[in-house]
Order: sequence, then C-alpha cells, then structure tokens
Amino acid sequence: ISLKPYNTFGIDVNAKFFVEITGLVQLQKVLELKAYPKKFVISGGSNLLLTKDIDALVMHINLKGKTIVEEDEYSVEVKAMAGENWHELVMWCLENGYGGLENLSLIPGNTGTAPIQNIGAYGVELKDVFVSCAAMEIASRELVSFDLEACKFGYRDSIFKKEAKNKYIITSVNLKLTKKNHILNTGYGAIEEELKKQGIVYPKIRDISNAVIAIRQSKLPDPKDLGNSGSFFKNPVIARKRLDKILKRHPDMPHYEVGKDYFKVPAGWLIEQCGFKGKRVGDAGVHEKQALVLVNYGNATGKEVLDLAHKIQQEVIEKFGITIEPEVNVIK
Ligand code: EPU
Repeated sequence: ISLKPYNTFGIDVNAKFFVEITGLVQLQKVLELKAYPKKFVISGGSNLLLTKDIDALVMHINLKGKTIVEEDEYSVEVKAMAGENWHELVMWCLENGYGGLENLSLIPGNTGTAPIQNIGAYGVELKDVFVSCAAMEIASRELVSFDLEACKFGYRDSIFKKEAKNKYIITSVNLKLTKKNHILNTGYGAIEEELKKQGIVYPKIRDISNAVIAIRQSKLPDPKDLGNSGSFFKNPVIARKRLDKILKRHPDMPHYEVGKDYFKVPAGWLIEQCGFKGKRVGDAGVHEKQALVLVNYGNATGKEVLDLAHKIQQEVIEKFGITIEPEVNVIK
C-alpha cells in the first residue's frame, strides 16, 4: 500500500504490509506477530522523510480518545491518546477554556509524536505543559510511563530521539493546563505584532491562538496544499567565539542568546543568504516564504528532497562554516 496519505511530505513509497492500530491490546498482539519480524511505526507522519519503500509491517498508530484525569478550580490534567490530531486537541482545549497550548496551534501531526521532538513554537514548548506520557516498550510489550524528567526534553529533542529511539511506541500524553489565571506567552515578536495589527490590547488565550494561526498561515505551507514537514532543519547553536568570527564577515546575521555564551542562529536566514529561498529542483523545493521549509510540489521522491537538503547543508557550511542538522526523521 502507498504511504503517500500517511506522510505530510506526500512522498509516494510503498509499505510491504500495513496495519491500523486502534487499541492497546491490538498493539500488543501486533508487536508479538512473529510472521512480521520487521516493524515500522508511523503516526501523524509530519516529521518524516521517507526515501524508499518500507520492507516491514507498517503500524499506523491511530489510538483515539481524550479524557480528564483530574481537575480543580485552577487547573486540569488532560490525557490524550497518541492518534489524536494535535491541532484538534488544541482547539478542543480552547473550547473548554483550558490554557497552555494556544501558542502551539496549527502544528501538524498527532499528539503521540509531540514528545519525540518536544514540539515548540512562538515561545512555548511541549515540555512547558507536559506531565507524562505512556509508551509501550516494543521488546516487552509492557506499558511504561515517562514523566517530565525522564523525557530529557531539549530543543527539538528528547530521550525518544536518543537512547529510547525505536524502543517505545508512545500511546498517550498527559498535559497540565490552566482553567483560570492563564499564563499568556505574548513575548514572541511576531505575536505582539499580530495582536497589535488586530487591535487587541488584552488578549485572551483564544486571541493568541488566532494570532499564531494567522502567522503560521502567512508563511508556512499547509501540507494539504503543498507537501512538507515544517522546518526541515534545526536552528544551529554556536559558541560566542565562533559567532564573533562570523559576525566580522556577516555583521547582519541574526542571533539570540540561548545560554551563557551560546547563540541560536535562524537556519532560515542562513539558507536564504545562500540563495535557496523559493528555489525548485524538479518537484523538490525550498518554500518561497520560509527557507527553513522544504516542499514537495507533487511527485518529488524522498531522495530528491534529501539531495536538495544535502546541497543546502553544503553551501551553508561553505559560506558560514555552520553545520545545520535535519530536524525531520530521515528514513534511509
Ligand atoms: N529567516 C529568514 N529567512 C527565512 C526564514 C527565516 O531570514 O526564509 C529569519 C528571520 O530573521 C526571522 C528568523 O529567521 O526573523 C526566525 O524565523 P521564524 O520566526 O519563522 O522562526 P524559525 O526560527 O525559522 C522556528 C521553529 C518553527 C516555529 C517558529 C516559531 C525550528 C527549527 N523551527 O522557526 O517550528 O514555528 O520558530 O516559533 O526551531 C517546525 O519545527 O516545524 C516549525 C515550523
């Protein structure tokens, strides 16, 4: 079966075998199937670049459900199953007046994959509202819980990208949200600008969500119209010494401090400076409004996208001496 509908890049590769996972007992049973020794997990497919056919049993995690674990006057703990669409969860929270996820509006993908890369946008990261997640250990088929500390969250990073990689399947996520006295994150410049534009002086959580949606829609392509996986690269972090050296040649390079003597540089800027913004090679391309996003104009292969990514990495190194690393999970 073609995996094109199961990855937001819209790459047309085939899965040898395919199963839709809708229950935990079923998940356990499928993991036990000896007839299919090789298994491959796909969830929202929004952070994935497939470059070849998958010679395995592809398990599409489609566990559904949202429940309230506990609540008081001020806060609520929500448990969402892994297959819940992330943006729909955010909208559901807003409808119920729960605060905390509004800055993370319109991020493609499902809830179960959110912890893997600690999704983040406009000043908020998943870790800021995260309580725990449940995951099935593939080897033992046991359900285990990872709390905030156990997840070792970092910028676009967690234990699930490191020592726990390919060892667990996240089945649900618990989030702690506010019911009143919401903590609003309006510090990100683009949000401030958008609220001002809309004439909103005292924003509510819904206004922040609307502002984030407007900003994202103005520069990020909707995977429904144009295949993509959001930011293809991570923003690199460099030490002050290196920064100072580069600034001598490129004094206008944007940067901001992320720790003592460490600075993040927007990869989108580096890529744009190398002349890639809006460039197209066959059906693979660099988005015209946000150079950090690689796109599939229709029939690009994963390899074409990957070749373009390599070319970009190479030119960024040559021009700036900075290595940029993919954020998406490249399956080679
Ligand atoms: N920039 C350019 N040219 C471009 C793109 C960006 O010069 O084509 C420069 C500008 O200086 C701009 C700065 O980069 O001010 C930052 O751009 P933007 O606010 O669009 O954010 P980003 O650093 O490119 C990151 C995340 C996004 C997230 C936004 C907002 C990463 C890898 N990406 O992008 O996350 O939405 O910040 O918080 O950290 C994603 O992970 O898929 C994603 C979209």
